[in-house]
Amino acid sequence: MTRWNDGTDATASVSPDITDETNALPAKYFTDPAVHEMEKEKVFSRYWVYAGHANAIEEPGEYFTRTIGDRNVIVLRDKDREVRAFYNVCAHRGSKMVDDTPMTDPGSANGIRCPYHLWTYDLDGTLRSTPRSFETAGMNPDLEDEDVPKLDREDNGLMEIHLDSIGPLLFVNFDADPMPLEEQAGTLKEELESFPLEEYELARRYVSEVECNWKTFSGNYSECDHCQANHQDWIKGISLAESELVVDDHYWVLHYTHDEGVEAAESLIEGEARFYYFWPNFTLNMYGNADGYGTYIIDPIDEGRFQLIADYYFKDSELSEEEQEFVKLSRKLQEEDFELVERQYQGMKSGALAQGQLGPNEHTVHRLHRLAQEAYEA
Ligand code: FES
Ligand SMILES: [Fe+2]
Repeated sequence: MTRWNDGTDATASVSPDITDETNALPAKYFTDPAVHEMEKEKVFSRYWVYAGHANAIEEPGEYFTRTIGDRNVIVLRDKDREVRAFYNVCAHRGSKMVDDTPMTDPGSANGIRCPYHLWTYDLDGTLRSTPRSFETAGMNPDLEDEDVPKLDREDNGLMEIHLDSIGPLLFVNFDADPMPLEEQAGTLKEELESFPLEEYELARRYVSEVECNWKTFSGNYSECDHCQANHQDWIKGISLAESELVVDDHYWVLHYTHDEGVEAAESLIEGEARFYYFWPNFTLNMYGNADGYGTYIIDPIDEGRFQLIADYYFKDSELSEEEQEFVKLSRKLQEEDFELVERQYQGMKSGALAQGQLGPNEHTVHRLHRLAQEAYEA
């Protein structure tokens, strides 16, 4: 039921099953700064989080960086063409090493060199070399040059992070002993790997900062009950009545059919749009009426702001006119959603609502709220 903040401060857990009365996640989990701090550990350090696309780093030595919570990682392809991820932190005294390097403009190097005292690492993370000052006694009066211990190359290497992939989509996990990605992804892995995702090139990226909690936007993405009222241009080509929903443990997917007559020359899935949400903060968008797909990364900045990174992949990164039009429409859809979620968040921030109530049709939002609650309680 709906619970107003009427001085009793009472909220209940998210209901276990979606019934005609389903408690939403209490509002404080969207607005409290302490929850944002907690999520860095309980959500973003324990689950598999999208890092980027393997096509961006095709050659050995190519890399990009990615910030997840307070952690900055280097994702690179090593000499054996394996993709690896390391903390962007030097084993000597902890300096950040490489500058922020987005996937859209990857760097290339044959090793990683820390600019502070020039420790240098191979692409597999082992320590390659240190300057002479680390090999001689230098100003230490108690030590002779020949007694200086040699640094073990592996023991003094970089800290590697678990990395795994679904097709070309790369995911990292900061847990020391994470659940396998297959387990978190369930049937999503096989389903996505049945599409030739690696044959598509990154063509556009939009980065936006939005004034609401990341879960507010995630909830909005996960349902289309708001579409009729708010996305007039998009809704024209879609038969909402024929949409279908699949909800699994850590992902859900909305299928929509395009009305007949909508051009679907050669699309990834002809005539069918599929919107996948993968907990905690990744989506994959297949459009059905355009031969391409998109991804969203929904990165929290603080409890009241997130960054949306929207990437578009097409057969050729040079877009045709239709494709440019399509991306424009998709971008318009995002902007319409930004308005909706910012407005919702203004309401939530007022503190009036202690806990909302989900409708019987809001399975996906319910799953999102349950997953958040499970993560907090774990
Ligand atoms: S902190 Fe990196 S070389 Fe000293
Ligand atoms: Fe929307």
